Amino acid sequence: MIVRVLPAVPRSIVQRLSAPYIAGATLEDARAVVARLNLEGKAATVDVLGEEVTAPAEAEKVASAYHAVLDALAADRSDANVSVKLTALGLEFDVDLCRSLLATVVADAAARRMFVRIDMEHSDVVDDTLRLYRELRESGRDNVGIVLQSRLRRTLRDVGALADLEPNVRLCKGIYLEPPSVAYTGHRQIRENFLRVLEALLAGGSYVGVATHDEYLLERSLARVAGMERTGYELQMLLGVREQRAAELVEEGHHLRVYVPYGNRWYEYSLRRLQENPAVAGMVAKATLLRAIPGR
Ligand code: FDA
Repeated sequence: MIVRVLPAVPRSIVQRLSAPYIAGATLEDARAVVARLNLEGKAATVDVLGEEVTAPAEAEKVASAYHAVLDALAADRSDANVSVKLTALGLEFDVDLCRSLLATVVADAAARRMFVRIDMEHSDVVDDTLRLYRELRESGRDNVGIVLQSRLRRTLRDVGALADLEPNVRLCKGIYLEPPSVAYTGHRQIRENFLRVLEALLAGGSYVGVATHDEYLLERSLARVAGMERTGYELQMLLGVREQRAAELVEEGHHLRVYVPYGNRWYEYSLRRLQENPAVAGMVAKATLLRAIPGR
């Protein structure tokens, strides 16, 4: 219901409700948040908001924004890397352009000894995303990682297909609403697949970023990595979500990274975060009702 109703919520309300999930509009805002997180003992990954761009100039603009982010993070000596969405680099309208923009971002990061994580988007782009990742790795780049989603039925097969690369993987449930033909739709199945995929990745020697706020999955994942070198995995959370729990995990000595999005194109990202916030139904209902009362 919330997913269906959210697009009808006025943008100003979406912006206000989603403010905790976004560092701000500018690179300076992101830098300040990364500095604060680093002081709290947390690493960061910076995401330039924007996805599904439709013109080469827009994709080039996103790529330049990433070069500026890498420059700033290197200058600040931040404990941070970047996360990039390939549809923001033109994947859906020009794969060659996307390939070349991605290669320059990854090369720039490599020159600064920094790492690039390729976010995973909806199921239609998984094949191309994994293909571009493989090409980069086969070209000798090892400062690049991928994301796998436990929601997708194909993911365990993808782990097998990627095994020769021993990929550095962020594992998450997957946020995109997918049809049952390609995705598990039940809460329990998605969780079970998360743990199966985690096991397969660790058994194959992958470095895994366990990206979840789900306490059940956190506990099970922590039990699985107990006794492992702490350099073999990390925990990942989103800015503005379960910050108290993140602080406890850092206190316990785990390496934890926070996803820090910034930029002007906040709308789509905000909708996705709000649809996952258990408190949002009440907040949205209240905000829209108050707005509907005449005289306010
Ligand atoms: P779940 O949604 O069940 O949340 C567990 C609990 O966390 C909730 O009960 C609530 O307490 C709290 N919570 C979760 N979301 C909240 C919110 N917005 N506000 C307040 N509380 C909230 N997906 C994808 O498809 N591609 C990607 O590349 C990425 N990248 C990514 C990076 C990182 C660092 C994270 C943590 C997540 C992603 N995701 C993602 C999103 C991911 O797939 C998933 O949609 C969310 O993490 C929510 O799933 P959880 O496992 O956290 O469980």
